[in-house]
Amino acid sequence: MKFTFISICTLLIGLLVISSCSTNLDNSNENKSDARSQAILNMKRATDHHSYSKPEEAVVTHLEWDAKVDFETRTVYATATYSINTSEDAKKILLDIRELDILSVRVDGSETSFDIGDGQAFIGAPLSIPVTPSSKSVSITYNTQPGADAFLWVEGNENSNPFLFTQSQAILARTWIPCQDSPGVRFTYSAKVEVPNNLMALMSAVNPTEKSTDGVYTFVMDQPIPSYLLALAVGDVEFRSVGEHTGVYATPDLIEAAAYEFGEMEDLLVAAEGLYGKYAWERYDLLVLPAAFPFGGMENPRLTFATPTIIAGDRSLVSLVAHELAHSWSGNLVTNSTWDDFWLNEGFTVYFEQRIMEAVYGRDISEMLATLSYRGLVDEVSEIMDLNPDDTHLRLHLKGRNPDDGMTAIAYDKGYLFLRMIEETVGRETFDDFLSTYFSKHAFTVMDTDNFIEYIERELLADEQTRKAVNLTAWIDGAGLPDNCPNVYSERIEKVDNAVAKWAEGGLNTSDIPWGEWLYQERYRFLKSIPESVTVEKLDDLNVTFNVSGTGNNEVLFAWLEQSILKQHTDSYPRLETFLINVGRRKFLTPLYSAMLETGQSQMAKDIYKKARPNYHSVSTGTMDELLADA
Ligand code: BES
Ligand code: ZN
Repeated sequence: MKFTFISICTLLIGLLVISSCSTNLDNSNENKSDARSQAILNMKRATDHHSYSKPEEAVVTHLEWDAKVDFETRTVYATATYSINTSEDAKKILLDIRELDILSVRVDGSETSFDIGDGQAFIGAPLSIPVTPSSKSVSITYNTQPGADAFLWVEGNENSNPFLFTQSQAILARTWIPCQDSPGVRFTYSAKVEVPNNLMALMSAVNPTEKSTDGVYTFVMDQPIPSYLLALAVGDVEFRSVGEHTGVYATPDLIEAAAYEFGEMEDLLVAAEGLYGKYAWERYDLLVLPAAFPFGGMENPRLTFATPTIIAGDRSLVSLVAHELAHSWSGNLVTNSTWDDFWLNEGFTVYFEQRIMEAVYGRDISEMLATLSYRGLVDEVSEIMDLNPDDTHLRLHLKGRNPDDGMTAIAYDKGYLFLRMIEETVGRETFDDFLSTYFSKHAFTVMDTDNFIEYIERELLADEQTRKAVNLTAWIDGAGLPDNCPNVYSERIEKVDNAVAKWAEGGLNTSDIPWGEWLYQERYRFLKSIPESVTVEKLDDLNVTFNVSGTGNNEVLFAWLEQSILKQHTDSYPRLETFLINVGRRKFLTPLYSAMLETGQSQMAKDIYKKARPNYHSVSTGTMDELLADA
C-alpha cells in the first residue's frame, strides 16, 4: 500500500517538475502545463484553515492586475483578472477578501452577480463567484480601503516623497487583491500599475531600473508564486547595480550607503548556488524600505524588501540578506503547505542562511550568530512553555488563530537546530545532497509536515538506528528542546560572557573591556547579558567610555536602549523616543515597550506609543495594541 502511494507521489512530483519547467521554457505551452500542475497540486493539497478558497473546485492559474495608486485618498483602484481551472462539477470559485470594496465581477467578460459571505476577524470573507466547468476567467473590479492592513502609506514632507509598500505574508494579500490566499495555490502574474509620475513602482516581478515618464509601469512574473509573495512598493527610489545578477533600490538619501552595505550580495548568491543548486529567479535585488517596515526582511521573489535598520555602514548585518536570499529556495521554491508548516519555510531558511554565512564569512562568524540565536531560543522556549507548551512544537496548530502567532523563535531557531542535529547525525555531505535533491524535486510545489516526515524517513533515515538517533517525533510534535539538541559553541561569545560577569562583579574595569576590538555580535551579547545587579551608574560609565548610545549599528543600539529602560538610564530616553517613533520593526518594538511595562514605566510607554503609532504598519500596531491594552 505504502509503496504504491509513494510511487504515485513521486510520479506526480516528477510530472509537476516537468510541467513547471516547460512553463518557464515554452510559453506556448503555458496554459496546458499550468493546468496540469494545478491539477496535480489539487490532489495533494492539505487543508488550509486560513483560506476560504476551495481550489479543488476551481483554482486560479494566472493574474492580470490593472491598478491605479492614489496617495491622496490612500486607495488603490484595480481590476484583477484571473485565468482559472475548473473541476468537472464546478459551480463557484471562492476568493479571499478582507475589507475590499467589490464594485463588479465578470466571468468570461460578462458581468455577473456575486456573493460575499460572513466575515471573520483577520480571516476576512469569502467572495463567491458563480462559474461553470467551462469558465475560463473571472475579473473583479474593486478598490482597497485607506486602512488596508497590507499597506503602509508613508506621508511625504519637505525632505522626502511619499512611499507605499505592502506586506502580504501571512494572510494580508487579501486586503489588497482578492485572491486564493493560501500558500498551496500558485499562479503567475502580470500587472500594469499607474502611480504619481515622480515615483517608481516595483513588484515581486521583473522590475524597472528607471522611472517611467508617465508613471505607468508594467510587470511580469512568469514563475508561479503563492499570494503571500505578491508585493508592491511605490516611492522615489533609484536603482544601483552591485553585481551581475544583483542590485539595490533605495531613496536618493540612502542609495549610496545601500550600494556599499549590500555590495557583497552577488557573493552571497554565488555561495547559495554552490550549496543547494541554481538560483531559480534570474535576478536578486533588494529594496530598502522606510524604517516603518515591520520586519527585518521579506523574501518577495526577485526583490527582497528590507528595513533600513540593517544599514550599519560596515556590512555587519548582511546575515539578514543571506536569510531572505535563502528563501529563494526554502519558501519561494518549496513552500509551506499551510501556516502550520511554517517551520518548513523558516527553519530551513535559518539553516541555509547559516551555511551561506559560514561559506562567505567563515565559521567563527556563523557560530557567533548561531550562539546568539540559541540564547534567544532558550529564553523564548521558557516563555512559551509557561503560556502554551504545544506552541513549542515545530508543527503548529493555528486553526482559529492568527498565523502571526506562529512567528516565534520555534519555527526559526528550533527548526534550525533540528536540521543542524540531522546534519551532525548523518554527516554534512550526505545532508547537503539530501537538501539539494529536496529543493530540486519539490521546486514550485508545497510541502507539509507529514509529507516531509515521509520523505526524510525514506530518503535519509531509512536506517533504523539513524532514525532513532534523530527522533523526528520529539522535535516535530514534542515540547521544548529535545535531548539530542546540538551544542552550539562560540569561543568568542564565551569570552564575552566571562568579561561581562567579571565586569559586573567589579573584577574588570570598564576601560579594560575590549569594546573596540569586538564585532557587533560581541557587543550585542555583552549588553544582553548585563545582570540586574549592575547599577545605572556603571551602565552610564560604559556609555561614557565607549559612546554606546552613539552606535550606528541598530542591533547594538536596540540592546543598549533595552538596558537603559531596565536600569532607568534617563539620559538615553530622548534617543529611545526618536528610535521608537522612526523605527517600526516589531522585533525591536516588542521588547522595548515590554521592558517599559515591566519596570513600572507604562506611562512613558503609552506616551511614546501615542506619537509613534501613526507611523507603524498594522503588523506592528496589532501586536503593540494588544501589549499596551491593559497598561
Ligand atoms: N518571511 C519572513 C517574514 C515574515 C514571516 C513575515 C511571517 C510575515 C509572516 C522573513 O523571511 C523573516 O524571517 N524575516 C526576519 C529576518 C530574519 C533574519 C530572521 C525578520 O524580519 O526579523
Ligand atoms: Zn524568513
